[in-house]
Amino acid sequence: MRNTLFAAWREGRTRALEAALEQALPAASAAPASLHKAMRYGVLGGGKRIRPLLCLAAAEAAAGSGPLPEAMPLACAFEFLHCYSLIHDDLPALDNDDLRRGRPTCHRQFGEALAILAGDGLLTLAFAQLGDSALRPWTAQLLPSFAAAAGTPEGMLAGQAADIAASITAGISANSAADSPAAGRAGPSGAEISLATVTAIHRRKTGAVIRACLTLGGVVGGAKGKRLQVLESAGNDLGLAFQITDDVLDVTSDAATLGKSPGKDAAQNKLTYPALVGIGASLQQAQILADAALARLGETFEHAEPLLQLCRELARRTK
Ligand code: IPE
Ligand code: IPE
Ligand code: MG
Ligand code: MG
Ligand code: MG
Repeated sequence: MRNTLFAAWREGRTRALEAALEQALPAASAAPASLHKAMRYGVLGGGKRIRPLLCLAAAEAAAGSGPLPEAMPLACAFEFLHCYSLIHDDLPALDNDDLRRGRPTCHRQFGEALAILAGDGLLTLAFAQLGDSALRPWTAQLLPSFAAAAGTPEGMLAGQAADIAASITAGISANSAADSPAAGRAGPSGAEISLATVTAIHRRKTGAVIRACLTLGGVVGGAKGKRLQVLESAGNDLGLAFQITDDVLDVTSDAATLGKSPGKDAAQNKLTYPALVGIGASLQQAQILADAALARLGETFEHAEPLLQLCRELARRTK
């Protein structure tokens, strides 16, 4: 019964979200058409839509209500921000990926210049969504938090920069360790960079936006004080759990299931949980974090079943 109700919730919210995303994007026929086509390609036709669904679910949990149309522009803002981050993350200068959401990455399809511009366009569109009149009562509160989650020093941009820096450092260490007569002995290596460093990277590059989906969704639903704090700490745990699982799936899954190329993290000397502690301990850690989030949300919100169900799904996701 719980699953049937949740499936209906998810279907309804996803349908409304897809329509809102489509409508907010520039028309493919409008000039400059190549840019608009690339932006639409980066958003439409794929993706789990986890962030906007978390945002809508948090808003509804906080309000103790059914659909909250005023939260929709915020949900769209999160998906636009996320899609921009994916397009740029896939660029040759960053992760250099060819496959995303089961299709060629934006730069493989449209070329690097348009992919960079499409990402810029989607980030700009995300902020434009926050100016939607439906969000007017909360705009001043939402804007700085949204920008902090997207930016630096505590947000996604900072995490991406740290991710790239750590992978370069680990690559240099791995090469010099292999070349040096001291190979196998003391000296910095990727594996020795502490779990605390990876955790700090993951909390920024992925956790900050997921945390903001819960807290800012909660703000629109009327959450304040202790209830907002619970959304924040649950979002913090869920965000980290999400990236740990992403790291694990990169090792254990396949392109057909993931819609992206697996095995890239090890090939690029990325600092990941499985590289440091192994797959089993990584999965265990993700489950502990998701369970903690679930318990706190369950204790605090009476009508939060969609939000709780999303947390349960995130803990056992396979793609
Ligand atoms: C992938 O995010 C990038 C990460 C931050 C791990 P998702 O796994 O949510 O990707 P889509 O939106 O479903 O494609
Ligand atoms: C990306 O992390 C985080 C973002 C901010 C986009 P990854 O680089 O691991 O994401 P995937 O595996 O390419 O989706
Ligand atoms: Mg990356
Ligand atoms: Mg990547
Ligand atoms: Mg990944």
